[in-house]
Amino acid sequence: MTALATHASNARVLSGMRPTGQLHLGNYHGALKNWIDLQYQYECYFFVADWHALTTGYDDPSAIEENTYQMVIDWLGAGLNPSACTMFIQSRVPEHAELHLLLSMITPLGWLERVPSYKDQQEQLKEKDLATYGFLGYPLLQSADILLYRPGYVPVGEDQVAHVEITREIARRFNHLYGRETDFADKAEKAVKRLGGKSAELYKELRKAYQESGDADALTRAAALLEGNARLTVADRERLQGYLEGTGRMILPEPDVLLTATPKVPGLDGRKMSKSYHNTIGLREEPDQVVKKLKAMQTDPARARRTDPGDPAKCPVFDLHRVYSSSETREWASAGCQSAGIGCLECKKPLIDAVVVEIESIRARAREYEENRDAVRSILSEGADKARETARDTMADVRAAMGLEYR
Ligand code: TRP
Ligand code: SF4
Repeated sequence: MTALATHASNARVLSGMRPTGQLHLGNYHGALKNWIDLQYQYECYFFVADWHALTTGYDDPSAIEENTYQMVIDWLGAGLNPSACTMFIQSRVPEHAELHLLLSMITPLGWLERVPSYKDQQEQLKEKDLATYGFLGYPLLQSADILLYRPGYVPVGEDQVAHVEITREIARRFNHLYGRETDFADKAEKAVKRLGGKSAELYKELRKAYQESGDADALTRAAALLEGNARLTVADRERLQGYLEGTGRMILPEPDVLLTATPKVPGLDGRKMSKSYHNTIGLREEPDQVVKKLKAMQTDPARARRTDPGDPAKCPVFDLHRVYSSSETREWASAGCQSAGIGCLECKKPLIDAVVVEIESIRARAREYEENRDAVRSILSEGADKARETARDTMADVRAAMGLEYR
């Protein structure tokens, strides 16, 4: 089954980040930069997963608020644009909690216990007691975060793919349990008529092509047809999407992962850049400090003296060249390293310049927000209002499907 046909809105994208405080170059190149591109191509919702921070950090919530503001200032500094995307704080949209609760009714415990991060994290964070209800529910809360907006795509890194996968399974189960109306076929046929003359004919043809010969292209085209029809009600669109595949209403469409191509961003010690390794360069760090850090950055250990040739493949600095440098600069560095024609400091020079320029522009844009917390608050509060409009639509359908409509 192609996922395309089941999307409520292919044009919608959703993603979240836990509030870890000030971001570093690894976060920027691994996720944020991608969000910044996406905001101009899709209808984007980006949020701070503050409840998720509590699942592992419930014992000390003192930093959540400041971490949230600092992270959002980094988002804005890096170029997330409040007029191009919707930014908000998860806990300011209580519908996330309601959907989490309702989905918990249909989620088998075994599904949650089998998510790889459940056992991995418990082992990695041994000093914490993660045998909590909230921690087991982490992926389900994430599913609720996602399904609440019925996005087509969820841009995440490799480490989050399993969470999007369980989200798809939960959506499928939900639609299976609640998408079956007694008079589904009847209502679907009426919805086809409401599509209007040509569109109705085309829909019927495409549906037939898909159902009789499994023509995936027909499915995609039919989905696009529904997408583009402004006359349809949400309920009818769900019916017609479901009717394509003959199942039932797609109340919660299954989203696809938009896998972020993550360049390897090495930290100063050569390991992956990560806050817990204390090897980061912050997005808003003082340029002097950045220069100092990069000058001291680990190189190929075999190059003890300036006259020793080095191997770029064994040098974390060269990995940074892959992120920042043109192919000419990379070739210059690689050749100079292997022939001992250049020293490590020389090799780092263009990189230092590139990182400093990048950070300077982020710092400049962030400054107005650093000095004006109210501006940040109002962006987040407008974001929450907008997010809630979409969230309310979904919840109306979900409540009705689960017998809680109370008309
Ligand atoms: N679990 C994600 C992370 O640790 C953050 C997150 C929470 C998220 N909810 C989400 C990401 C929904 C994408 C979609 O990075
Ligand atoms: Fe690394 Fe460049 Fe030094 Fe070679 S010359 S070891 S690539 S820093």
